[in-house]
Amino acid sequence: MPGPVEIPLSPEAFDWLSELIYRRSRICLGEDKRVLLASRLGQRLQSLGLATYEDYCHLLAAAGDDEVAELIDLVSTNHTRFFREPVHFELLRGILPDLARRALGAGRSLSLWSAAASSGEEAYSMAIVLAESAAERPAVGWTIEASDISRRMLDRCRMGIYELKRLQLPDGAWRGRYFLRGFGEREGLARVKPALRRRLSVRQVNLFQDRYPVPPGQDVIFCRNVMIYFDQPSRAALLARLTDQLAPGGYLFVGHTESLTGIPHTLESCGPSVYRRPG
Ligand SMILES: C[S@@+](CC[C@H](N)C(=O)[O-])C[C@H]1O[C@@H](n2cnc3c(N)ncnc32)[C@H](O)[C@@H]1O
Repeated sequence: MPGPVEIPLSPEAFDWLSELIYRRSRICLGEDKRVLLASRLGQRLQSLGLATYEDYCHLLAAAGDDEVAELIDLVSTNHTRFFREPVHFELLRGILPDLARRALGAGRSLSLWSAAASSGEEAYSMAIVLAESAAERPAVGWTIEASDISRRMLDRCRMGIYELKRLQLPDGAWRGRYFLRGFGEREGLARVKPALRRRLSVRQVNLFQDRYPVPPGQDVIFCRNVMIYFDQPSRAALLARLTDQLAPGGYLFVGHTESLTGIPHTLESCGPSVYRRPG
């Protein structure tokens, strides 16, 4: 079998592609990402039978949304894990009684949103915290929206199948409580139990699309480790939209490296990369 052939990516083709990627997703690829882009797209060109990036640009211009979605899938960085930045999940557990009391007072259930969910580990980690908390005081209902721009990642989120070795959970009992172990061909894998999977409403959302299909009035939004890929004006615009999407008194969690310093906002800081809408 011949190995992959390296196709040269000219500065012009790189500029055209990075401009398209920015317009569609706000992901910024500086000139220093040229090699990275070429390494991520090379195989796609080969499988499309294309010899040059110029041909690929023509195809993207003509083929429309599906091929552009494929491109965004290939350039997005999807790294994630269960209970990443664990202090956020402890904080989530801590604020739930107050949020539940408010929701009950208003006669509604709790709404949470994992807004850059990747393959789902973050949303299922939130769901485990909610399920544990509900086992202590079962009065309030809850749902979690899990969304991402990447269709490929959302398929994995829906499946809820993960490698056992990546299932590092803070409490050893949770593996058996929330996951089914695979056997035979599925040895080494575990699947989220249906009762927890059903709690997630999984859908594709581009954080910069005109209208969000996710309802406003969210009690908690996790939008972590995605703003780092955006420029400052895009971060500011996103922050304003996420603030509007929160219920008064609702919480926004961003990644530990994503301080909101320098971005105008109306949120109160209330923990490491955790913010609250006043109210
Ligand atoms: C590094 S992962 C973060 C996953 C998870 N939030 C965490 O902290 O572990 C970043 C995710 O953001 C998604 N993403 C990038 N641009 C996006 C956009 N414009 N709208 C929605 N999701 C986007 C990527 O597809 C990727 O799955």
